[in-house]
Amino acid sequence: MTWFYRHCLRPVLFAQDAERAHDFTLKILSRASRNSAACAAIGSLFSAPELPIELFGLKFPNPIGLAAGMDKFAAAVPLWEKLGFGFCELGGVTWHAQPGNPPPRMFRAATAGAIINRMGFNNPGAEAFAQTLADWKKHGRWPKHPVGINLGKSKSTPLERAAEDYANSFRVLRDYADFFVINVSSPNTPGLRQLQDKTALDEILAAVCEIQKSGPRRPAILVKVAPDLSFEALDEILELAAARNLSGIVATNTTIVRPETTTPALLKIYAETGGLSGTPLRARSTEFIRHIFKQTRGRLPIIGVGGIFSVEDALEKIAAGASLLQIYTGLVFEGPGLPKKIIAGLVHQMKDHGIRTFKEMVGVES
Ligand SMILES: Cc1cc2nc3c(=O)[nH]c(=O)nc-3n(C[C@H](O)[C@H](O)[C@H](O)COP(=O)(O)O)c2cc1C
Repeated sequence: MTWFYRHCLRPVLFAQDAERAHDFTLKILSRASRNSAACAAIGSLFSAPELPIELFGLKFPNPIGLAAGMDKFAAAVPLWEKLGFGFCELGGVTWHAQPGNPPPRMFRAATAGAIINRMGFNNPGAEAFAQTLADWKKHGRWPKHPVGINLGKSKSTPLERAAEDYANSFRVLRDYADFFVINVSSPNTPGLRQLQDKTALDEILAAVCEIQKSGPRRPAILVKVAPDLSFEALDEILELAAARNLSGIVATNTTIVRPETTTPALLKIYAETGGLSGTPLRARSTEFIRHIFKQTRGRLPIIGVGGIFSVEDALEKIAAGASLLQIYTGLVFEGPGLPKKIIAGLVHQMKDHGIRTFKEMVGVES
């Protein structure tokens, strides 16, 4: 499938504007999601071998998940497990519906395996999002794997009222997800990354955790960090995570840093404002995972994300300390066969080295 995607489908998709290609793909996946025969056919092509892992009280059939930003409208909720994913993170969702930044706002750096985006949390708002999720449930199409929701701040909400904004979204969505990711690391909402500051973040976590504790169902709460933080700032977030009893850290979001290049076509794309994802982010995101694992002595689960395109990339992040992984840009470049390919590769590695459970591989390099 990877060969077919690379040589037949990808050239067609890459001939279009990046966001148009994304919307077109999501439209097809959304239609397929409503059709049992299509879901079954896709499942038979892409379903991955079992590689179970249990974390924060949830059972993941395998450790490879869909990263936030791919399904911002919950358009294809039933399909991600059919494509072999062991979990998905939907959104980012904000309390208020918002259109995001004006297009163009997504750019491919094809020769570098990278994307720059400044989407700016285009999403239907938490209440409409909850309605879509309720519809998937009502029609019996809810996936078996854990579902997460990525929460952002509405652009119209001032920074000092951020806690209320996140808490409102959490309140209406809490019954629809197994875990929530507090996203204070997107570079595309003015001032958002200032919310990674200890005091501001603690206010948000306090508001969300209070609602979390008030109900019978307690979804896990994680924080997603930017790769552009200093390790000192990251350590403060880790202290908060321990104090607030968070379930884990998602490392990392996109970066505003650009790699050095003299290639004119790349220079042109790297000049675009926004967050860079894909291959140029890989090493930095792994460094973050390694640091978090060491600082927390492996006690705080890490979802590793950033530049995973292959089994080797996945192994690098697992060895550094990631217990779960997520993919966005790799899916765009390598196609829908990627989750299955990575999981099959991990299973193969484990057999070769006589490793019995996935957890044994996590953080082995430390
Ligand atoms: C177009 C696009 C939109 C994204 N939207 C979100 C988002 O809404 N919330 C979020 O936390 N991360 C978002 N991300 C970041 C990804 O979830 C991921 O952290 C990042 O792209 C690095 O992984 P990758 O190299 O596999 O793409 C987005 C990424 C892209 C490319």
